[in-house]
Amino acid sequence: MLRSWLIYLSKAEWARRIVTHWKIAWRVASRFVAGETPEDAIRAIKALNARGICATLDHLGENVTNGDEARQATDEIIYILDEVNRTGVKSGVSIKLSQIGLLLDESLCEQNLRRILERAKSHQNFVRIDMEDSTVTEAALKMFRKMQAEGYRDTVGIVIQAYLYRSQEDIRQLMAEGARVRLCKGAYKEPPEIAFPKKAEVDANFDRLTEMMLDGAARIGLPRASECGHYPPIPAIASHDEARINFAREYAEEKGIPKDALEFQLLYGIRRDLQERLAAEGYPVRVYVPYGTQWYPYVVRRLAERPANLWFFVSNFFRG
Ligand code: FDA
Repeated sequence: MLRSWLIYLSKAEWARRIVTHWKIAWRVASRFVAGETPEDAIRAIKALNARGICATLDHLGENVTNGDEARQATDEIIYILDEVNRTGVKSGVSIKLSQIGLLLDESLCEQNLRRILERAKSHQNFVRIDMEDSTVTEAALKMFRKMQAEGYRDTVGIVIQAYLYRSQEDIRQLMAEGARVRLCKGAYKEPPEIAFPKKAEVDANFDRLTEMMLDGAARIGLPRASECGHYPPIPAIASHDEARINFAREYAEEKGIPKDALEFQLLYGIRRDLQERLAAEGYPVRVYVPYGTQWYPYVVRRLAERPANLWFFVSNFFRG
């Protein structure tokens, strides 16, 4: 109930206007967001790299409302790819297709994506397409496959959400294509016609999809995480749920899959202890580092995932 309400608020323009004017809101947001500028983000990545952890950088923004905004977001993503290259930090980039125009015009989005991938390819870097709500799943997969076919196979990856019923079939196909996939539970509100309503069902599907991804990677010779920290292996397990992480570790061990043929991904500001523990155990770990001024929907989704975070918000509010 609380989760649904928060997910509704994450999309409500009226709520965004009110909350982003509260002085304390940024104090709360900054727990989950590395800062407002590219310099802030690169600084956060340097600190992660010093702890043996790679990053994927996200210039926050989604659902742009006109072509100029989509082009501006594309320029910013290209700029950050240049900055990653210039500073030599171990980081790729994550993007949302709605940020570069998917909901306005598919062909505009495709042109923008191609520009981003071309720059990433020239820097030998990697771009992950985040998965948004189920209204764009099909379009995102179609765009991803088109780019793979155009020669960006090593440059682009996709995300699959374990809460969707369709995901087993998607993973089966993506593994046959040798695609790099980040698996997450899913952060949006989806109806029971298309998504598992119960957490236990999502968790069980997450484990099943993990098995399919590890088996799929084994079938094509277990490509490893690259030394430069840019190219991830085929399976990226994105979760803070230790039961899911342990399942992946145990299944990989049982199948003789080496540690650097999978990667664990976690969000900036969440379970830093777990990030460090996994890295110390020799697993590639990548932290998703968001930055920018458009933090509202991202941060409210983080509150929805863990209602206890709301108390953090409330206590800051009363401290003023
Ligand atoms: P779960 O929600 O069961 O949480 C397990 C435990 O983790 C909690 O008990 C708590 O300890 C901790 N935890 C989880 N979330 C927390 C939070 N917000 N604050 C504090 N503690 C928290 N989703 C999507 O739909 N599309 C996408 O592209 C992505 N991309 C993505 C990248 C990466 C690197 C990660 C880690 C996650 C995503 N997600 C995502 C979000 C994902 O779908 C999911 O909503 C969150 O990861 C929370 O789910 P968990 O797997 O952590 O499990």
